[in-house]
Amino acid sequence: MSDSVWEDFIALNSTAELNTRVLGPISDYLALRDRSVLWDETKIPLMEAAQKDHSPLPLEEDREGYYGANHFNYWASGLRDWLQITEWLEQHQITVTSALDIGCASGRLVRHWQAQTDMQQVIGCDINRLHVDWVSRYLPESIMVFQNSSLPTLPLADESLDLITAFSVFTHVESFDTTWLMELRRVLRPGGIAWLTVHSDRTWHEMAPDWPLYQALKNNQDFKMIRELPELPQDRTIIRWQKERSYSANVFYRESYLRRVWGRILKFEDIFPGLPNYQDVVVLRKH
Ligand SMILES: C[S@@+](CC[C@H](N)C(=O)[O-])C[C@H]1O[C@@H](n2cnc3c(N)ncnc32)[C@H](O)[C@@H]1O
Repeated sequence: MSDSVWEDFIALNSTAELNTRVLGPISDYLALRDRSVLWDETKIPLMEAAQKDHSPLPLEEDREGYYGANHFNYWASGLRDWLQITEWLEQHQITVTSALDIGCASGRLVRHWQAQTDMQQVIGCDINRLHVDWVSRYLPESIMVFQNSSLPTLPLADESLDLITAFSVFTHVESFDTTWLMELRRVLRPGGIAWLTVHSDRTWHEMAPDWPLYQALKNNQDFKMIRELPELPQDRTIIRWQKERSYSANVFYRESYLRRVWGRILKFEDIFPGLPNYQDVVVLRKH
């Protein structure tokens, strides 16, 4: 059983087999468009983008449940997130030719880097072997993908990347956040950017009962004890689901901690409410 092997203390599904069902390419799902996921179509027109991406889409169960049955919105969300990054990079006159998406799952972001940009090196990694297998099997060969573990080490060369993204990953990294930051610092080239989403004090204050995050947390005993506190009780408030495996905690960071502690390792450039709005984007730069 995959959940009893030692590897899964520090990774996931290390011995599981990928199922063989997938969805069709995005051109099959254009009719599902409901305009709830928007991006600047003057920058990337829909039909142009769709024609460049022939790869299958993952089933809902192979993409962390993202966007339920709306396969169009799943695909569009990656495009929207990439454009948000592009805009920031353009404003700061930063060119990206190599990028890594940590916690890439089944390629929500990297599929667009491959299809819509002329980036020379597109890399994804994830602790979940099934996601890595999915990308390897169904997305173009030019995307390099590997399984990493929860231990903060990446098998990549020093100063080899212009950009590292991690969407909804540090929201679950319960240990070694500073070591991860050191590792990102090692593999980023000078001037390179880390684009990381987090749950912050803002998330804590604004979180409403209808948010999926609240729904996920509401029955947790530790959460119940602290929910009414006006401020986050700790710099890193960690709510664990299980203690014996990776990827089973929700973490909220105080912004002051991110600036003080992460900002010592990489230069703190920016923090702003992300998309969807229950996470903040933290932008850091290697000196
Ligand atoms: C909430 S999902 C987000 C998936 C993807 N980033 C996206 O936005 O569609 C979190 C992903 O991060 C992966 N993950 C969690 N901890 C990780 C770690 N330490 N290193 C790499 N991947 C991790 C999980 O397996 C999962 O695929």
